[in-house]
Amino acid sequence: MYRLILLVLVCSTLFSTERKYLDNYSCQECHEKIYKEYQSSSHSRSYFSNELHRKIADKVSDKEYKCATCHMPMADNISDLLNGNARPDKNNKTHTDGVSCYFCHTIAYVKQSHKFNVNIKARQAKNFKPTLYGLLDDAEDSDKHSSVKNPVYAKKVCAGCHSHKLNDNNVTIFRAMQTNQESQSCITCHLPEIAGGIEKMNKKTRSHHASHKFLGIRDAKFRATGVDINISTQIKQLKIILTNKMDHPLIIQAARVKYLKIEIESQGNIIWKNYQKSPKEDTQGYFTSSFTKDGQKIIIPATATESKINNLLAREVKILTYPIPTLANGDKITATLFVQLARKECLSVIELDDKSVFEPLLIKKIVKFIEL
Ligand code: HEC
Ligand code: HEC
Ligand code: HEC
Ligand code: HEC
Ligand code: HEC
Repeated sequence: MYRLILLVLVCSTLFSTERKYLDNYSCQECHEKIYKEYQSSSHSRSYFSNELHRKIADKVSDKEYKCATCHMPMADNISDLLNGNARPDKNNKTHTDGVSCYFCHTIAYVKQSHKFNVNIKARQAKNFKPTLYGLLDDAEDSDKHSSVKNPVYAKKVCAGCHSHKLNDNNVTIFRAMQTNQESQSCITCHLPEIAGGIEKMNKKTRSHHASHKFLGIRDAKFRATGVDINISTQIKQLKIILTNKMDHPLIIQAARVKYLKIEIESQGNIIWKNYQKSPKEDTQGYFTSSFTKDGQKIIIPATATESKINNLLAREVKILTYPIPTLANGDKITATLFVQLARKECLSVIELDDKSVFEPLLIKKIVKFIEL
């Protein structure tokens, strides 16, 4: 009996996996610039700091928080959250840290799965420094962690959460990546190399680091680079050529709308528009998902039984054609692409203090003058 207890004790010290969590702020001590950038990024937002996410999550269920898999991945009681035995807790760092530094940098590999992929974490042996993965060829170790280059990282690190998500009825809520699409291209666009060392004490090493601002749809300059818009005209016909330069579809988030506003001006008067009151009237130029449950339109996709989407796929070129009046010399055509972070219809199911998510934000505007 005594031997057995001893064996159990020895084994538990040798093999137990201590999950000591290094919170976001603890990285700031050495990775000051990266920490600052990260704080401005969407990944730093959590259930508590993203109102849109929180209100929709609470509407889906006030018991289970199934969103935790991707939105609160580091939670120390994640199975309780997923099963409805616990709720998000604003005094728990593993809840408020969002998609945390430590989480991303300890993903060992990503398992492909039908509904959504699964991030498999590296195990951390007790009394050893945690090992953080990255892409540096020869990262030095620090007193807080060891550093290892992990090739799975460039291949898979974004696919664990951004690839796809289906609901319990097998309806696609979003699909941003193809199976086996690598993450390196995501990294090239969303974590570009910028000036400044990666670590503040060790000035002799690198002069550049991967930006952790994760610029996306909220940055005016960055979002203008995703799609090219070209205008071409023939007799009584207008062609808008949209080129998606991104490695993912234009719509990869169920609440988003991206839409075109097109106007033709002749001698100071608007003589043609692609819609009168609502951009939805132009079914070609209104990019969004819509969901139905047993034939009824619904806003929140969690219980949908069917979905439809008007999209511009990764790297796709799409030509939208419109019948228009005869054009004269000097007529001006304006094509503008806008985004609304959330569709207005969301207001019918949730209330938001921050109404700015419904305001159209400019993505890109193109003007062409007719020369006959
Ligand atoms: C499989 C991973 C995954 C799961 C599970 C998941 N999400 Fe997300 N969610 C994402 C990703 C990735 C983004 C960022 C996509 C983007 O911005 O285009 C996101 C973004 C969002 C946004 C937009 C945030 C904003 O302000 O721009 C909302 C709202 C949202 N999710 C709601 C939910 C809710 C509610 C749940 C649970 C019922 C949930 N998500 C579960 C991956 C997931
Ligand atoms: C005590 C200082 C210190 C702290 C605290 C610290 N690091 Fe580091 N980290 C370093 C040093 C030093 C390097 C090596 C830099 C080099 O080689 O140029 C490094 C390298 C890294 C790398 C690069 C690994 C690679 O192979 O590309 C990652 C990722 C990283 N740290 C993440 C983190 C995260 C996440 C935290 C917080 C949980 C953190 N670090 C906290 C000092 C620290
Ligand atoms: C060629 C550059 C490029 C590549 C490659 C790229 N993106 Fe993007 N991405 C952008 C731009 C520009 C935007 C903002 C414009 C937009 O969303 O219309 C964006 C937007 C996003 C958004 C927010 C979209 C929204 O509507 O909320 C997410 C999330 C995202 N990218 C993730 C990824 C992931 C994951 C990958 C890898 C599969 C990736 N990106 C590859 C350029 C790129
Ligand atoms: C969404 C996932 C994600 C999160 C969250 C994240 N990182 Fe990273 N980090 C990456 C990726 C991807 C790279 C590799 C980029 C490259 O080398 O091209 C990287 C690189 C690094 C590096 C090496 C720098 C370099 O130039 O390669 C350090 C150090 C680092 N991260 C620290 C942090 C710290 C500190 C935080 C939080 C404040 C953090 N990361 C949050 C994905 C993430
Ligand atoms: C653990 C899950 C997870 C991983 C891994 C992850 N993301 Fe995210 N990402 C999210 C969630 C969730 C959001 C939305 C958070 C919010 O707005 O509340 C998001 C937001 C973003 C956005 C901002 C979208 C916008 O425009 O608002 C970009 C860009 C992005 N991720 C890129 C990446 C890239 C590139 C990688 C790989 C290096 C990556 N993410 C890895 C979960 C993840």
